[in-house]
Amino acid sequence: MKVLFVCLGNICRSPTAEGVFRDLAPEAKTDSAGTSNWHAGDPPYGPMQAAASARGYDLSDLRARQFVRADFERFDLIVAMDENNRRDIEHLRPAGNSTPVRVFTDFAPQTGATEVPDPYYTREFDGALDLVEACAAGLVIALKDRR
Ligand code: 4NP
Repeated sequence: MKVLFVCLGNICRSPTAEGVFRDLAPEAKTDSAGTSNWHAGDPPYGPMQAAASARGYDLSDLRARQFVRADFERFDLIVAMDENNRRDIEHLRPAGNSTPVRVFTDFAPQTGATEVPDPYYTREFDGALDLVEACAAGLVIALKDRR
């Protein structure tokens, strides 16, 4: 299973999603990307890394890159952090491609959240981690149920 996590900058939410999910599902292939190229080459945002590190997630190896059309062919599942990301991704879908694109919160309906709020703006790094952990756990169960 190859899973790509996507947000806007690829320095807060999607690298956190990747870092949490890969700890829960080490057998999966994972990556993350941003719909923008604003932070290409950058490591995850310092305050986000610090909050993740406090919970035992090491994001330091991750580097931002922009989402590209070819990602539709390279991954089995694309997971967007919010509805804007999902729409921006869908605009790039190649003709004939049917790779599922889901919003991460779909996997944690019990939270009542419909998107992962961007902690770059909200400054709620721990809140983002709480939600990402719930969504990642739900995604692990959803993928197990498919087998
Ligand atoms: P992310 O957060 O999409 O969760 O990585 C952002 C980080 C940086 C910016 C926007 C969103 N920015 O405007 O630089």
